Amino acid sequence: MSNQQYAISYWPDTDELIAKAKRLISLPPRPVRRDKMQEYLNYFETRCVKSKESTAEAAKYIPGGVQHNLAFNYPFPLNIRKADGAYLWDVDGNRYIDFLQAGGPTVLGSNYPGVRDKIVELLRECGPVTGLFHEYELKLAKLINKHVPSVEMFRMLGSGTEACMAAIRAARNFTGKKKVIKVGGAYHGWSDQMVFGTRIPGTGTYEAAGIPEECLQNTQEFYPNDLAALRALLEKNATEGGAAAVIVEPLGPESATRPVHRDFNQNVRQLCDEFGALLIFDEVVTGFRIGMGGAQGYFNVKPDLTVFGKCVAGGYPGAGGVGGRADIMSLFSAGIGSGQQKTLVGGTLSASPLSSAAGYFAITEMERVNAPILAGQAGDKLCKGLRKIIDELDLPFFVYNHGSILHLETHGVLLVDLSDPEFLVKVFLRKKIGEEMGAAYTAEGIITLAGSRLYTSMADTDEVIEEALAGFRRVLSNCEEAK
Ligand SMILES: Cc1ncc(COP(=O)(O)O)c(C=O)c1O
Repeated sequence: MSNQQYAISYWPDTDELIAKAKRLISLPPRPVRRDKMQEYLNYFETRCVKSKESTAEAAKYIPGGVQHNLAFNYPFPLNIRKADGAYLWDVDGNRYIDFLQAGGPTVLGSNYPGVRDKIVELLRECGPVTGLFHEYELKLAKLINKHVPSVEMFRMLGSGTEACMAAIRAARNFTGKKKVIKVGGAYHGWSDQMVFGTRIPGTGTYEAAGIPEECLQNTQEFYPNDLAALRALLEKNATEGGAAAVIVEPLGPESATRPVHRDFNQNVRQLCDEFGALLIFDEVVTGFRIGMGGAQGYFNVKPDLTVFGKCVAGGYPGAGGVGGRADIMSLFSAGIGSGQQKTLVGGTLSASPLSSAAGYFAITEMERVNAPILAGQAGDKLCKGLRKIIDELDLPFFVYNHGSILHLETHGVLLVDLSDPEFLVKVFLRKKIGEEMGAAYTAEGIITLAGSRLYTSMADTDEVIEEALAGFRRVLSNCEEAK
């Protein structure tokens, strides 16, 4: 077994990636050739008949016919019946390599028997929920504390969105300050205060339909890597009551779609200390995926609070939680008689025996079998293979990875800069091309996240990666020539 502790085996050159992103956006897009795209669309019409029927009916009862933001909608969503290890099967019997990984929680691979069997046992004994304390709550909290020592105390919640809300509320209650600063482009769930500068930096309230302006008055954003802008915000806030917290995705917004410099988190930590703001790490994706110690272990930076999701319930429901310094966390239990105002959180199904046991067994197993490292090694192999294909075909595309989190940038919709005079035109065009790329990969038997992000798991053996690379090669070799 390797001695590697973290899944990131090399640090991609951030400035080089930023330069490649700029170049990609400056060039005319290179979508899949029209004749080939038609063939890919025919795949859906002829081979995915049951998916088409059922998801068309779903659209009558479910808005858009699909309830997962990461699900593929073009040309229509697939109806998935079976998941096992590296693969998914749709209702028409087609098999796919799964690089969506449900958005990230299944580092062990899908439907991992070692966790599932324990959960079935637990369900037989006490069902999914009682509303009372269960021993797996303690076991999970202790396990997280062992791997992520900054988490002196842990409170489990229903989702990453809830956990971000709770972390921000805790920071405000503890510091008595209001402002919260995030990095532009980052997604921290869909709570009122966090739908700000999502996906593309600088877009502020663009996606905040249905959210009163007042809810976002105390949320601010700065461009990824722009530490001078963060300092300026903190200085301004200092004259207006101060900032409660800075919240970051430690690899950069949208799982490093906009990658940050390696010393970014350390610098943010220093600025937080200088201005008395708490540092919140959103480790919803990176927690246990980057290594058992999370991104904070990799960077050796200690946040005040950490937000968990996804892996924290091992792919089972109720995947969320916040943890950190005992003095801040204790306020979740404060209240009448304690002399301090309580940070109120709740959730009928939060910290259920099901969620707690699933998290406990999954994380225990991930450590035992070295899952984050194996998933990271699969990511390295996939990235290397894709880079070779891109180079051989002389395409302006680029690919990089942080262990098991990969970005295959062919259209770059999230990389368009707001200052670009043709911003909207480019975004709409590139979004469409991204949908097509995703559909083409799917027709070649590969499920991706939005046609550009790939999560690998421990189940991605060399054989799986080879099969995937052959599929990617077929799609990429059918992209239009440079104009
Ligand atoms: C970095 C990050 N934070 C928060 C969330 C929200 O988590 P959830 O979907 O569990 O609400 C996500 C979801 O993808 C995420 O990627």
